[in-house]
Amino acid sequence: MTLTPVITEHWDSPDLYTLDGYRRFGGYRALEKALKLDPDAIITTVKDSGLRGRGGAGFPTGLKWSFVPQNDGKPHYLVVNADESEPGACKDIPIMMANPHSLVEGVIITSFAIRASQAFIYIRGEVPNALRKVASAVAEARRAGLIGKNILGSGFDLEIVVHAGAGAYICGEETALLDSLEGLRGQPRLKPPFPAVAGLYASPTVINNVETICNIPYIVDRGVDWFRQFGTEKSPGFKVWAVSGHVNNPGIFEAPLGITMRELLGYAGGVRGDGKVKFWLPGGSSVPLLTAEHLDLPLTYEEMAAAGTMLGTGTPMIFDETVSVVKAVTRWLEFYKHESCGKCTPCREGTFWITGVLETFEHGHGKESDLELLVSACNQISGRSFCALGDAAATPFPAALKYFRDEFVAATESPVDEKFDPVASYIYAGAATR
Ligand SMILES: Cc1cc2nc3c(=O)[nH]c(=O)nc-3n(C[C@H](O)[C@H](O)[C@H](O)COP(=O)(O)O)c2cc1C
Ligand code: SF4
Repeated sequence: MTLTPVITEHWDSPDLYTLDGYRRFGGYRALEKALKLDPDAIITTVKDSGLRGRGGAGFPTGLKWSFVPQNDGKPHYLVVNADESEPGACKDIPIMMANPHSLVEGVIITSFAIRASQAFIYIRGEVPNALRKVASAVAEARRAGLIGKNILGSGFDLEIVVHAGAGAYICGEETALLDSLEGLRGQPRLKPPFPAVAGLYASPTVINNVETICNIPYIVDRGVDWFRQFGTEKSPGFKVWAVSGHVNNPGIFEAPLGITMRELLGYAGGVRGDGKVKFWLPGGSSVPLLTAEHLDLPLTYEEMAAAGTMLGTGTPMIFDETVSVVKAVTRWLEFYKHESCGKCTPCREGTFWITGVLETFEHGHGKESDLELLVSACNQISGRSFCALGDAAATPFPAALKYFRDEFVAATESPVDEKFDPVASYIYAGAATR
């Protein structure tokens, strides 16, 4: 399958991040078109395109927008989730650095469609360069009359606030993000009510991922048929794949949904040295791992679910045979333990105990009977936690045990560092984005 650069098409143009640079390639043409349309027609177009959210869950975007009640007399809000803190996920930050105006244009069109006159972009505060790029794109757009009162003479008003988060993974969970934006401690809210009905300041709010919103100008400008020519019926369109880990050429590759991991590996220069894939994850540390036998599966929401995993953020991490799966899983659990907000018992206590037991395996004194104890602990977290961070924390171990039980058993006798590269699992599993 060939690459199909759309969002990334002009990234080699040095001034793409400026208004002039973006406009040179047709930037803000979609906005001019959108402002002449009925807002509901834009929602219908996005629904028909089949675009699914790129923040991890793959929820249909147009459907989410259609849940916002109309003529309710309340203010509506758009919130862009640019918190990107998941280990292995690194696509939204590069998008914001290289092409911030595609995000700004998407925000204006989306706000018009859902009748919001105030939008927020919540950016992970540990990435000041992305923050500066987006803030300066918003300022430029404002000076050009693309934000503010009566945008392009349409009668539509919009203000955009760029907000820096303070570096907590949980603030990427959409309702914790809303609490954080309101100035509270970032902890998830009970759902329902869902944000589309009662979100920011208890008003209807759409929350979408950066990449999701960046798709909007292209869909509005080029149409549903163009978008649907990529991907599959259930997973239409293209994706900004961010490939990391033990590959020769890690980076961003934009290609249709349905490309295989083997094809993406080819674009990423193959496994480093003459190595082989030991295991890989399709989209961040929150999705179950797969092995080399899954390299030819199409990367779509439906195929990944059928294989027992998820597409997640579509940011595959590749691990070669130097890596101890025991050690990698332990690093991920340490991450979830650290990032658990503590609001609910299964996640707060479970991540603490699972990490402690996994560390005994890492150091070579685990007990084989503890493997079933760990599975049971994961089952107590999964589906019983207040938010999806708990489910994510319960994900890595069962999948690792399914494919690499022998390695856990071997870790009852000798520390994993005696057989595997002690550094590789740290660099690519534990500290991928932190
Ligand atoms: C712990 C946790 C962290 C998350 N972090 C992010 C994030 O950084 N960016 C993001 O877009 N979605 C993140 N999500 C998913 C959001 O809750 C939400 O589903 C998403 O922003 C919706 O946008 P979309 O429909 O465009 O995918 C996270 C979810 C959880 C449970
Ligand atoms: S699952 Fe974890 S992160 Fe989510 S509310 Fe419970 S303690 Fe907090």
